[in-house]
Amino acid sequence: MDWMAADPASRHSRRIDEAQQAQRALAQQAAHGAFRQRYHFMAPGGWINDPNGCIWYGGQYHLFYQHNPFAAVWGKMHWGHAVSRDLVHWEHLPVALAPSEPYDDHPRGGVFSGSTFEADGALMAAYTATSFRGDQHVQTQCLARSLDGGLRFEKYANNPVIAKPPEGISADFRDPRVLRQGDKWYMVLGASIGAGAWHGGEGCALLYESDDLAVWRYHGIIARSRGELGTMWECVDLYPLGGRWVLSFSPMFLGDSKTVCLVGDMDFPNARFVWDARSELDWGGEYYAPQSMADERGRTVLMAWQNGWDWMPWFRDYGPVSSEGWCGSMALPRRVLMDDRGRIVSEPAEELAMLRRDERSTGWLEVGEKAMEIPCADPAAFELDMTIDLRNTPARAVHLDLRAGGDKRSRLTIDLAHRRLIFDRTRADDGWTGGVRSCDLPLKEDALDLRVFSDTVSIEAFAAGGLSCMSNLIYPTHPDQRCRVSVEGGTARIAITTWRMADA
Ligand code: FRU
Repeated sequence: MDWMAADPASRHSRRIDEAQQAQRALAQQAAHGAFRQRYHFMAPGGWINDPNGCIWYGGQYHLFYQHNPFAAVWGKMHWGHAVSRDLVHWEHLPVALAPSEPYDDHPRGGVFSGSTFEADGALMAAYTATSFRGDQHVQTQCLARSLDGGLRFEKYANNPVIAKPPEGISADFRDPRVLRQGDKWYMVLGASIGAGAWHGGEGCALLYESDDLAVWRYHGIIARSRGELGTMWECVDLYPLGGRWVLSFSPMFLGDSKTVCLVGDMDFPNARFVWDARSELDWGGEYYAPQSMADERGRTVLMAWQNGWDWMPWFRDYGPVSSEGWCGSMALPRRVLMDDRGRIVSEPAEELAMLRRDERSTGWLEVGEKAMEIPCADPAAFELDMTIDLRNTPARAVHLDLRAGGDKRSRLTIDLAHRRLIFDRTRADDGWTGGVRSCDLPLKEDALDLRVFSDTVSIEAFAAGGLSCMSNLIYPTHPDQRCRVSVEGGTARIAITTWRMADA
């Protein structure tokens, strides 16, 4: 295979230099942002969306991500890059991929999402190049490689490796996930059958096969919507878990459902995926495009974008952070597992515990309707763990008021009567966010566990051992923010521990 030289005079290298300069300028502005996250991954400055190519490679975790280094809004997509040894502290590396060729150079296109993998020791990237013909976007699948551990990438000289969608698939076909099985390479793509994402097409996942990465044979549709799973599947991922395969994707136009997981059995040579269970990784407003990586400890770790397209100006706006020179952060890294009943659970990476400081515990409390304040050493950046003793809790519901000050609060309700977890942000801030999200909450006989992670502009909740998760953005500005617990319809026996979270 021939690769375009990555020497300093090459067009790609010059584009990377321009991107770096622009990113530095925005980073200076973003450094003073009042809404900056304190322990969630952010780009130095500019816009981020999907994680692209999370991989354990060369003794560290690599996180590539969709990035606009020129402005804190979506556009002109690049791949940003950072590395970490503990999933908590990240070091920013130079922008990895920039638009530079006719097939990937467009202000409303660029180097879209994809994945990384190792081939003959090199770090390979597969991405969707997006350009335009007239008003019609043109998406093709492309390769790049790095021989120096991800610092400099050279694009494949014969890009694109897949130049057009197969028969019957619309122009929306993107986000290649490449994986090795036996002696073959496979690529899974998200796509839309028929009229396309915006015109009522049917979301689906396509499979391609290759011997040498250069020539790809179309193998067929491995899973699809029939009116019930969205019009286009973005950021499809396919990974083994608990002896089975998980096909995950972020469907377009499927209401609150943003992180579908289909669990089944995968037959690669025959391009058959037979699934029998469907679940959702997160029911919050902002958890999108999760991507998995297997690490050296045998864990499957997920990274995801902690934002969503509902914030795009054509739906609403970018929110209050964009004027600070940045927009978007990654959700906390999670470990994903299959429980003994074959259900997918996700839990925050255990390494996050290294950020805990100033522990405060309530011991067992008998809580009634009168709200009790929860001791916490930081108003914004904290972890709160709660256990409800269900054998001694006749109450109908437990309310946690988080980041509460003045008439503002975000309310997380454990609705024991209806077995629901509910996140209400109708009064979370000055109207930037809103609405109520809820999901099923499986209850055991004895106890219910809940872990809440709050950072400057986000709240993530993991309940019932990671079966019920919700990530939401909020933008509270009240100077005095506190946490309170209260109970409806009886009393509850509860124990709470909080920690301030150190900056990462
Ligand atoms: C998902 C997505 C991808 C696309 C990328 C563009 O969030 O729409 O499908 O490749 O973002 O930034």
